[in-house]
Amino acid sequence: MIITHARGTDLADILELERSGFEESEQWSPAAWAEELESPDRYVLARLDRDARIIGVASFSRVEEIADLLRVIVHPDARGQGVGASLIRAGLDWAAAVGARRMLLEVRPDNEPAVTLYRRLGFEPVSTRRNYYGPDRHALVMLRGLGGDGVWAVA
Ligand SMILES: CC(C)(COP(=O)(O)OP(=O)(O)OC[C@H]1O[C@@H](n2cnc3c(N)ncnc32)[C@H](O)[C@@H]1OP(=O)(O)O)[C@@H](O)C(=O)NCCC(=O)NCCS
Repeated sequence: MIITHARGTDLADILELERSGFEESEQWSPAAWAEELESPDRYVLARLDRDARIIGVASFSRVEEIADLLRVIVHPDARGQGVGASLIRAGLDWAAAVGARRMLLEVRPDNEPAVTLYRRLGFEPVSTRRNYYGPDRHALVMLRGLGGDGVWAVA
């Protein structure tokens, strides 16, 4: 398994993943992804296949003790093989190592593959952000402590 830092030169491959993962209205723009890849406040990981092609990407941030999982996308041909889980686990390790105590994420509640993946990795639903994705399109907020597998680190 090869997980590496994504770079600016990976932008075209990541945009292809973005298009494969989300309908147009939900896609991050090329400018948004370019900024993501250059920002010192982001930790962007890419999973490569044997031919060094990017088959998955995930982006994280951290402010003080709270880390965020901002995006995870796996190429449709590579789904169901643990790629998404491997990227998130690497992000969880990074977040704990840099001092975060919890990781948060937002997800559409009807995104069953993602919600199931997050639950499997120990995230629990904690609230709803209303109109997060647009009018009447709410987000489920999920949280995981970083003190152990699925264990809340902070009371
Ligand atoms: C969500 C996504 C990242 C999952 O990536 P993946 O590499 O296929 O996931 P994994 O193979 O690591 O799956 C890990 C676990 O997640 C769950 N899971 C993954 N895909 C699932 C599906 N289609 N249906 C139900 N559960 C699923 C399973 O519990 C799975 O464990 P198991 O295979 O042992 O049963 C992928 O479907 C994707 O890129 N979707 C489009 C983009 C997206 O919606 N991203 C999330 C919001 S930012």
